[in-house]
Amino acid sequence: MIGRLNHVGVATPSIEASVALYRDLLGATRIHEKFALPAQGVWVCFVDLPNSQIELIEPYGDDSPIHKFLAKNPAGGQHHVCFEVADIHEAAADMKAKGATVLGEPRIGAHGTPVIFVHPKDMGGVLVELMQAPAGAH
Ligand code: CO
Repeated sequence: MIGRLNHVGVATPSIEASVALYRDLLGATRIHEKFALPAQGVWVCFVDLPNSQIELIEPYGDDSPIHKFLAKNPAGGQHHVCFEVADIHEAAADMKAKGATVLGEPRIGAHGTPVIFVHPKDMGGVLVELMQAPAGAH
C-alpha cells in the first residue's frame, strides 16, 4: 500500500537560510514561495527535485510542534518522510489494525490533501507522514 515518496520533511529555524543552502550549495532552481499552515503550526516551503520534493518547515506560533524538535536539533534536521497512499482513511485504519500509533485524525496537509502521521516509535525512529495522493497525480 505504500506509494511514491512524496517529500522529505526538513525542520529548520530559518526557511530563508535553508533555501539558500538548497539553492546555492545544491543548485536547486525550483523553489516555491513559503506559506503558513497555522493548523499545523508551521511555515512551509517546497523545493522541487526531479523525482520528489524537500519540505522545509519552520515553527509558526508559540505552540508549534517544531519547537521541541529544534530544541533538540538547534541547526534543524531531517524531520519526517512522506509517502503517498491511495486512500487516507483506509491507510489510517490499516495502520491502527496493525498496532501502529496514528497521531490524530486525518487532516489537510501542505499539499491540500489529507495526511496522517505514524509515531516514530512504531517505525524504527522515523516519523512517517502518509498523504492521500492528489486526484490525477502522476
Ligand atoms: Co510533510
